[in-house]
Amino acid sequence: MKQVDTTITSIHAREILDSRGTPTVEVDVRCACGVTARAASPSGASTGVHEAVELRDNAADRYGGKGVLKAVRQINNGLNAHLLGMDALQQREIDDAMIRLDGTPNKQRFGANAILAVSLAVARAAAAAQDIPLWQSLGRGRDAIMPVPMMNILNGGVHANWQGPDFQEYMIAPYGAATFAEALRWGAETYQALKAILKQAGYSTSVGDEGGFAPAVSSNEEPLRLIAEAIERAGYAPGKEIGIALDPASSGFYEDGSYVLRTEKVTLSAEEMVERYRTLADAYPIVVIEDGLAEDDWTGWRLLTEALGDRVELVGDDLFVTNVRRIERGIAEGVANAVLIKPNQIGTVSETIDAVRLAQQHGWGAMVSHRSGETVDTFIADFTVAMRTGHLKTGAPCRGERVEKYNQLLRIEEELGDAARFAGRGAFVR
Ligand code: PGA
Ligand code: ZN
Repeated sequence: MKQVDTTITSIHAREILDSRGTPTVEVDVRCACGVTARAASPSGASTGVHEAVELRDNAADRYGGKGVLKAVRQINNGLNAHLLGMDALQQREIDDAMIRLDGTPNKQRFGANAILAVSLAVARAAAAAQDIPLWQSLGRGRDAIMPVPMMNILNGGVHANWQGPDFQEYMIAPYGAATFAEALRWGAETYQALKAILKQAGYSTSVGDEGGFAPAVSSNEEPLRLIAEAIERAGYAPGKEIGIALDPASSGFYEDGSYVLRTEKVTLSAEEMVERYRTLADAYPIVVIEDGLAEDDWTGWRLLTEALGDRVELVGDDLFVTNVRRIERGIAEGVANAVLIKPNQIGTVSETIDAVRLAQQHGWGAMVSHRSGETVDTFIADFTVAMRTGHLKTGAPCRGERVEKYNQLLRIEEELGDAARFAGRGAFVR
């Protein structure tokens, strides 16, 4: 490692646009050695109620209230003065300082969107100053693992303006491939096969927020049929080579204690939802169900875990919001067996690492994730490799802000050369 001066000499934030045309925070960090690094915060649409706060201006005359100039000012006229002079290599010290200065349990003073952009940019500056790749800097000597790309090829719920299925995400998991590059190719080929199948069936092939197709199907099962057919048409074996993952994001259709499936005109109890998932898991090669039940339906979640926890990876997203306190409760109560990891749900790199470690220490799965509102920032690609989580979801193989993460993983696999190991089927908890 090079001996360079990693003292932070400047931190500058600005407002930029995300993939939905909504403002978000971008930060440039400069070190004494002369390196600069840039990072941006993503933004969710089906946001969990327990997530750290995303600070928005709420001034109706700009971007419909969604401007982030307040968050930008918190960095440029406040936070930066406290962080200048600190060492970019001391990520945890910097993150702890921001948490302390914010002083609220959910980062509502500075905004998690402000804090995270700084935290990400600091991590990237540290890597750049050492002249090593970000994955290597974050990994601190651990062997890297290339993840299975969980590609969201069919979008529903809020990501498709409730025009398609109620379930928000239908993903494919090409875990039977030998390398990440091969898995990505299998996934992209399946995506194109699905497009052809949808066209033939007379469906629209326009895409949702995460790049997956958003057809107006008439049930939540129909996409599974279409995807299984697409996998076969692309020349792969459903289940053996490519599995299917669901993120119903069910908090989005949970009303007064019931699950309202608008597409099918039925309202189900938690017990009936669990039965529904069991039927689907019997009929299709479903390896992951994320947010099968709502963010505060701990009782329903326990039923789901008892019913399917031994054969399906059950991922808590809105349920855990990358928060160690909520994950600890899940572990203690036997609820779920995996955690979705979204850095902006908690707000710093260090706390995100803590969430991954906690899951891993208990034999739980950790799946790193983008948000539906993204930028071309590829931090999560390097992070996933460094933390050895074995899988990440970052949308369809379509739309620049999604594809850029997958392309970054291609570059990392190339850098790793013979040392590259692909996680494969073993990445999934059962
Ligand atoms: P969001 O959705 O980024 O819109 O919150 C992603 C997810 O629910 O996993
Ligand atoms: Zn989710």
